[in-house]
Amino acid sequence: MNRRYRKTIIAGNWKMNKTLSETKAFAEAFKPMLGRPRWCDVVLCVPAVNLQPAIRLFKDSRVSIAAETCHYEPSGAYTGEISAEMLKDIGVKYVIVGHSERRQYYNETDLTVNKKVRAALEAGLKPIVCVGESLEQRELGVTMELIAYQVKCALAGVSAERVRHVVFAYEPIWAIGTGRTATAQEAQEVCETIRAIIRKLYGARVARGVTIQYGGSMNPQNAFELLAQPDVDGGLIGGASLKPDQFMEIIKAADQD
Ligand code: 13P
Repeated sequence: MNRRYRKTIIAGNWKMNKTLSETKAFAEAFKPMLGRPRWCDVVLCVPAVNLQPAIRLFKDSRVSIAAETCHYEPSGAYTGEISAEMLKDIGVKYVIVGHSERRQYYNETDLTVNKKVRAALEAGLKPIVCVGESLEQRELGVTMELIAYQVKCALAGVSAERVRHVVFAYEPIWAIGTGRTATAQEAQEVCETIRAIIRKLYGARVARGVTIQYGGSMNPQNAFELLAQPDVDGGLIGGASLKPDQFMEIIKAADQD
């Protein structure tokens, strides 16, 4: 983390978990624990059907609500989809773009990621752009090239003014839901690379202001060491964000003086 130049953001990604009543129970347990973090912004990414209730439930708290994906067109004949504008209109603040599960199961490509990033920014949402390599790609030694490609594709056509509103999340696919975390050094190396690419594209001032998270089996035990790395500015947390006490422990690790 480097709190002088950029925000620390701890975001929970609930994926396809929690009914409305479970969302209410989480809010009741979590809000009193949270209080007012000094340094870190807290985000919860929830299933589309629970966005509006979550916005109401967390209205009087420091939690921002995020969507897990959006469509890249503002409106039109796209059955089942939700546009960035619609999300913005109900009070959503962030949207995840290009999560590896969406790349893997729903044909999300670097091209659609780019379109979604631009659509989100156009609508006034902050995209949380996920990038990351598979185990095979890491073993082939192409991680940094792949990350550079994903970051450049995501940002094509995005102005320096707007890139300030983009958050990146480095999520190695082999670490997601597996209990196997990247070492703090591995996470730092890739987050540093992401920042170096942004620096090449937009200059040093812009690059040092961009929040870059790590995601992949982050938990209360490993959060502190990961977040202590200079280019790891937060976390995108799956499993451990479903339990109020575990999520809170990670926030505490990010919020220490
Ligand atoms: P886990 O924390 O469950 O590994 O999930 C990470 C993730 O995919 C967050 O987007």
